Amino acid sequence: MTYNKEHLSGLSLCIMLAAAGVSFLLMPVFAEPQSDLSGELKTGQEIYLKACAGCHGADGKGQPQSRVGFDTPIPDFTDCDFASREPRADWVAIAHQGGPVRGFSRLMPAFGGVLKVEELELAVRYINTLCTNKNWPRGELNLPRPLYTGKAFPEDELVVSMETDEDWSAITNKIVYEQRFGARNQWEIVFPFGWNKMQDPNGEGSGTDWGSNLGDIALAVKRALYHSGERGSIFSATAELILPTGDETRGFGKGTFVLEPFLTYGQILPFDFFFQSQLGLELPLQSDRAEKEAFLRMAMGRTFTSGPWGRSWSPMIELLAARELAGGAKIHWDVVPEIQITLNRRQHIMFNFGVRIPINDREGRPVRFMAYILWDWFDGGFFEGWRKQ
Ligand code: HEC
Repeated sequence: MTYNKEHLSGLSLCIMLAAAGVSFLLMPVFAEPQSDLSGELKTGQEIYLKACAGCHGADGKGQPQSRVGFDTPIPDFTDCDFASREPRADWVAIAHQGGPVRGFSRLMPAFGGVLKVEELELAVRYINTLCTNKNWPRGELNLPRPLYTGKAFPEDELVVSMETDEDWSAITNKIVYEQRFGARNQWEIVFPFGWNKMQDPNGEGSGTDWGSNLGDIALAVKRALYHSGERGSIFSATAELILPTGDETRGFGKGTFVLEPFLTYGQILPFDFFFQSQLGLELPLQSDRAEKEAFLRMAMGRTFTSGPWGRSWSPMIELLAARELAGGAKIHWDVVPEIQITLNRRQHIMFNFGVRIPINDREGRPVRFMAYILWDWFDGGFFEGWRKQ
């Protein structure tokens, strides 16, 4: 059979109609937002239903892949475990700038051209209501992690830290693994190790040989006792057990089990300031090996962003107080200026560096330098979210 002109133009008409039909079907889902929606829609729900529900579903669970025509999974906004932990500002950034601003897919379009920031904020606030279980602390309460002051927010994190004193005679590292369970709880394991200069027992040698040591491994359980997104407050209790796995003679352990109960409190303040504090006790089970100690740590800081949607910079200052519970013991005070910086687009890899400076009783208490890398592993793999997709 041969085709004549009519056949061909009939065929191309069919193809055109079919293509138009397909694009019409996909339009509500795929169309990059074009018409200006701004001003027409009043409530967060209206904005959500008009602009977001095409992909995210009217119920927030995400449209099935067969409907949207792509296989990038759409997040379930009703799943509190996922939806409660993301700070609102991050989601407004994604809605305004599109997925790539946080290293997510381009399939999550940018609405900055058609909706105002305030309207996107309303939509995201509406999304926040789709998780109906109020037990889950809001992601805003997940404040930047200070170097010494413990946090109140339950975390899914891996933190690797390094600390040394001014004459570099010892380096101590910690690997901290934290995992949430249930809405308010977290367990944690701390694995310390380090190096210090070996002292030759015969008094020979240069004294510059380094030996490696395991420190005292610790296990902890934390529970958020109170949290309120409206008040910007979170309050937790933690019980930690420190095991005598380190070498006491090399300065890498206390040589006894130590129980460390502590309370932590986090407070969001106006103008992106925040305050965190930790109050606790160190209770060695063999009291002849180590003294009982009480400590109070406080951190105050503010988060700045580069441009409206960029990297976060959180300079903080910590004030640390510790006192042995023996009669006549002094309170040791230290101050720690530091800065935490988010390293990647998704903002789930962070770096912090600071200097711990003794304020009083400086004899035998050198200045210390400390840094960590933090990976919020729930938000994606270590190498995810660095580049625009
Ligand atoms: C064209 C489809 C589509 C539309 C319309 C859409 N989204 Fe998305 N959205 C996606 C996809 C796909 C993802 C997952 C991206 C990924 O995981 O890489 C996503 C992810 C997100 C996330 C990231 C969640 C996370 O993992 O942290 C947020 C927040 C979000 N969308 C908000 C919105 C809002 C608000 C609107 C409406 C103003 C909207 N989306 C409209 C497709 C869409």
